[in-house]
Amino acid sequence: MITATEMKVPRLVTALPGPKAKQVVERDAKFMSPSFTRDYPLVAKSGRGAMVEDVDGNVFLDFAAGIAVCSTGHCHPKVVAAIQKQAAELIHMSGTDFYYENLPLLAERLVKTVPGNEDKKVFFTNSGTEAIEGAVKLARYATKRDKMIAFYGCFHGRTMGSLSLTASKSTQRKGFGSLLGGVEHIPYPYAYRCALGHEPETCGEEILETLENQIFKRLFDPTEVAGIIIEPIQGEGGYVPAPKFFLQELQRICRQHGIMLITDEVQSGMGRTGKWWAFEHAGIEPDIITSAKGIASGMPLGAIIARSSVMDWKPGSHGTTFGGNPVCLAASLATMDLIEGGLMENAQKMGKYIFERTADWTNKFKIVGDVRGKGLMVGVEFVRDQRTKERAADLRNAIVDRAFHKGLLVLGAGENSLRLSPPLLIDQEQADFAVRTLEECIREAEKKV
Ligand SMILES: Cc1ncc(COP(=O)(O)O)c(C=O)c1O
Repeated sequence: MITATEMKVPRLVTALPGPKAKQVVERDAKFMSPSFTRDYPLVAKSGRGAMVEDVDGNVFLDFAAGIAVCSTGHCHPKVVAAIQKQAAELIHMSGTDFYYENLPLLAERLVKTVPGNEDKKVFFTNSGTEAIEGAVKLARYATKRDKMIAFYGCFHGRTMGSLSLTASKSTQRKGFGSLLGGVEHIPYPYAYRCALGHEPETCGEEILETLENQIFKRLFDPTEVAGIIIEPIQGEGGYVPAPKFFLQELQRICRQHGIMLITDEVQSGMGRTGKWWAFEHAGIEPDIITSAKGIASGMPLGAIIARSSVMDWKPGSHGTTFGGNPVCLAASLATMDLIEGGLMENAQKMGKYIFERTADWTNKFKIVGDVRGKGLMVGVEFVRDQRTKERAADLRNAIVDRAFHKGLLVLGAGENSLRLSPPLLIDQEQADFAVRTLEECIREAEKKV
């Protein structure tokens, strides 16, 4: 097993996939649901810090972090100790029916991370999608309205309610029949592909115009709209940040009409962008925030955080058997200690460093159209031609695969982008390795164009 002191960069000892990995992949094909989207055959066995070892002894540098989940790295000793201690003491009780000390303790700590003077309350869930389901129910309950507005390109989950809001890839919806009614999607302010050619900080004015002068006048009266949900930085959609003014204007519109502004921070939250929440970069105060992924370093936990006047639902109106499980809470408390204790600052510092090191990529490589994001949410968009911006999904896929074969784990995002979402504890040597390796992969892919 790898230890943090042993390895900081990859070590490959077999061809990939190795013999044991091949066996697992074969068994998986036989017994597992085929609905997953594995880009390459990583068969993980153990992890430490930003490193993952596979079943054949190959060690990878992990810039995927289990889809931006392992915020404190793999098996951080403090998180492991908290989980082990808790597992020996109490594994389950169910907050729906009983009290438990760490529920309000973690809730209070989360609330303290959220700006604004009004008191807030928390509902714990098992996953991101469950947090979204609850947020939609809460918005409807609090406003006594039922319409929702969401954005093209955003991903909010795969259960029927959250899937109704998700508008990322049609395969995620195809074949599942009719979804929640009363949901309308509008374009996301995607600066690199701004229809009107605006700059990153001004892209989206026409979308707000459409919302106010078309949607609200011709489709949904704003007094019927319960919530507007947005990822402040699109995750699955390609690591696309919404401009600051856009989020501020959405807040103004929501306040004007009594609509709940819901920010989905499932991927962008918990310190990943250098602040607790990505919306903080825009200085807004959403009514409802959803969190999951990085909140408990890999243990299944999510949260809905809302103003107390909003989270004012009656006993019995919402519940969960497992949400806020004691072991997950313990992992989350340890995670928060670590994020507060330097990891958030490191995410900011390392993010800045990676953006500096990749600043010339659009000049250096003709297939790199855009490098964007915040902190350790770095998106790279690949195009066939920088002028036409023709999407190059095949090149992106080739680069993701090449990176794997050089020991670097990364994930695609959107149609033709790649995302870097490493654990928040990476150091400069690891950032350098990732940048260098990707440069090699891009250069090799370019040769084939
Ligand atoms: C922004 C966002 N919201 C919601 C979800 C759904 O989370 P989960 O997969 O935990 O249900 C995801 C998952 O990728 C996400 O990125």
